[in-house]
Amino acid sequence: MTKLTLTNLTRQYGTAKAIDGINLTVEEGEFLTLLGPSGCGKSTTLSAIAGLDRPTEGSITFGDRILFDSKSDTYLPPEARGFGVVFQSYALWPHLSVEDNVGMSLKLRKIGAAERKKRIAEALELVELGPFAKRYPGELSGGQQQRVALARAIVFRPPLLLLDEPLSNLDAQLRQQARVWLKEIQRELGLTTIYVTHDQDEALAMSDRIVVMRKGKVVQLGTPEQIYAAPEHPFSATFIGNANRIEVNGGNTHASGECVVMLNDGQQVKAITPEPQLSQGQQILTVRTHKISCEPLPDATELAVNFGAESYLGNHYEQVAKVADTALRLTLDKPMPVGPGKIWLRHEDAIVFGPEQ
Ligand SMILES: Nc1ncnc2c1ncn2[C@@H]1O[C@H](COP(=O)(O)OP(=O)(O)O)[C@@H](O)[C@H]1O
Ligand SMILES: [Mg+2]
Repeated sequence: MTKLTLTNLTRQYGTAKAIDGINLTVEEGEFLTLLGPSGCGKSTTLSAIAGLDRPTEGSITFGDRILFDSKSDTYLPPEARGFGVVFQSYALWPHLSVEDNVGMSLKLRKIGAAERKKRIAEALELVELGPFAKRYPGELSGGQQQRVALARAIVFRPPLLLLDEPLSNLDAQLRQQARVWLKEIQRELGLTTIYVTHDQDEALAMSDRIVVMRKGKVVQLGTPEQIYAAPEHPFSATFIGNANRIEVNGGNTHASGECVVMLNDGQQVKAITPEPQLSQGQQILTVRTHKISCEPLPDATELAVNFGAESYLGNHYEQVAKVADTALRLTLDKPMPVGPGKIWLRHEDAIVFGPEQ
């Protein structure tokens, strides 16, 4: 199996670290997504893998090939790595037709004209652009240009496909279609793919595994289900999905992972924690907006709150429930009357983390 392995990968700019000791293994055939806010080091990581940027420390191996190793001063240029790359700006050659854009990488690899023609036709077929072969990039929509960029990246059958926010220039509806379509192509070709995005929906919908990144570091690595259901860090709990993040005081931890924390008006909440031990001081409680109920639930904490005004958002309402000076955001099918009321919070939906370093 050809695995990609990053070991202690670090990229320093002056004293700042764009990526800071990343360790990661990507399995063959896997769709792995680097997810995190702007500036967290996603593109730097991808460029390091592509060979477009030289890290300061660590190593990158692909199967038994060493692509980069700071200790032995090894650094293979992008053409020696031979990976398919698609950037946010599609970077098509404006003076070349669609088929010439797609065929350029084959020409550079000295593949004969007949074989080239066949492969270009196959790639354009795959991205559903067969009839557009003779057009120029300026005569295509954003979505079509994006598909040309993808055809160009897969036409030479790269062992690894690197995609940096390739859908971010498309409008919302087109983006959703492109997501499904891209995932289908990836599966059909069995392409090992590393996908970069700051869009949590995209990451959840497309990935086999997600790497949640923050400030140049990996915060959590897991399947979409694991990241969503069992966040190991307050950042993954709140960056993915719509969640409240509240400062609380707490808490006695039991071996089972259960704990009790106190809201700032003294009300107690039974919760769970991934931390082995919580101190008595300030903690962070996270709870998803749609997990807060306005009707009694079994195994739930009942809390007295003050409901604020609701906003109507088409398929649901958003409403705020205040506990002392803390505002909890709720996602509801039906809004509650403004003023005093009650909410219920299941223990397993209230997740407590220690104070952030
Ligand atoms: N050429 C550069 N010089 C200095 N700092 C850089 C350079 N490129 C990126 N950075 C910094 O590295 C960090 C990570 O950048 P980047 O990998 O582009 O983030 P992302 O793709 O997650 O938005 C940012 O703080 C960015 O400002
Ligand atoms: Mg980026």
